[in-house]
Amino acid sequence: MNVISISQLQPGMFVQSVTKQTGRIKIKNQGWVKTQAGIDKLKKAGILEIEIDPDKTLTSSEPDTQAPTPTPTPKADIKKRDPWLKVHSSEQEMGKAKKLYDEAKTLQQKAFGDIKAGRDIDIAPFKELASGFMDSIFRNQDALACLTQMRQKDAYLLEHSINVSILMGIFAKHLGIERDIIVELTTGALLHDIGKIKTPDEVLNKPGRLSDDEFKVMQNHALHSKQILEEAGLTGIAVDIAGLHHERLDGKGYPFAKKGDEISQYVRMASIVDVYDALTAERVYKAGMEPIKAFKILKDGCPDSFDGELLTKFIQCIGIHPVGTLVKLSSQKVGLVTESNPTTPLKPVVKTFYSAKHSRYTEVQDIDLANKKTADVLESTVKPADYNIDLERFYKNSILP
Ligand SMILES: [Fe+2]
Repeated sequence: MNVISISQLQPGMFVQSVTKQTGRIKIKNQGWVKTQAGIDKLKKAGILEIEIDPDKTLTSSEPDTQAPTPTPTPKADIKKRDPWLKVHSSEQEMGKAKKLYDEAKTLQQKAFGDIKAGRDIDIAPFKELASGFMDSIFRNQDALACLTQMRQKDAYLLEHSINVSILMGIFAKHLGIERDIIVELTTGALLHDIGKIKTPDEVLNKPGRLSDDEFKVMQNHALHSKQILEEAGLTGIAVDIAGLHHERLDGKGYPFAKKGDEISQYVRMASIVDVYDALTAERVYKAGMEPIKAFKILKDGCPDSFDGELLTKFIQCIGIHPVGTLVKLSSQKVGLVTESNPTTPLKPVVKTFYSAKHSRYTEVQDIDLANKKTADVLESTVKPADYNIDLERFYKNSILP
């Protein structure tokens, strides 16, 4: 493959992909450029650089008319449902997202080590990671969103912070918040619970109800998070998220009992995302709650604890069946939601791989429930344990988006 400038593109060349452009156009399908007019069309669409396959360049003056011409498609048409994008970009993005997620875990572990050893944590790599999260979310948010559903029961502290960061990024993008702010939000979210490293294990991991004294010890983690970030030189939004994510609108939160307007929109977002992830998390001592039940609890907490308007937007953004949710269809096929459907949330795209009827794995199949030809409907959310399904196996085999 060769990457060339659009000015070098000649009729007869085979365009593989767009590598640089001013807009967000994707070519609908790969193929030969037949005419100069076709090239001009690509130029006009803001395409600056493309990848061509020199082995397929046609030498005759008459290119193969059977092959499709690459056609620019308006942004609104491409999104995630474009098959070209699905085949070529989604799987690549999953690999990149997984790498970022693993980096995040390593970074958190290093930060825990630094604090335990009495050293300040190094903020720069966290900011870099937050920026990487953001780039991935803007390329294809389903990849990182999916990883937030892949939980290990014993890695809560690490995974919770990473998940809150990813969900904050996705939520902030949904709200149209500008890039620089999103990086601060995701950095703050990545480190919001870092103070828990100073909470004694017996309190931190206690399965049952905490006593009043234990609860006070637990509450200090937000204060510790704030201090740790300030000592590391952070200021502003990220520090606010760390210190204030347990504050509630009616003033009944902790550690400062702030209320109403004293709690910024960014902190309000963080408190919603933090509780959502905590409720849906699988823990050693409890099963993860279904998103729809977690939304209900958050809704019951409005307006006393949470901002109702923001919560509504968060639910719209995440969807009733978020990407990565295991669901059963009326045909008894079981699979993972791989694309949410914001207009009809009950009709996402599902990748099925198991038959509940025959209790066995099946061939992998993509079913778009919004497709009029699809007779299947989404019946219920199910747990991997219900069918002894090893989700990790499918994750490793990269069948996810
Ligand atoms: Fe917290």
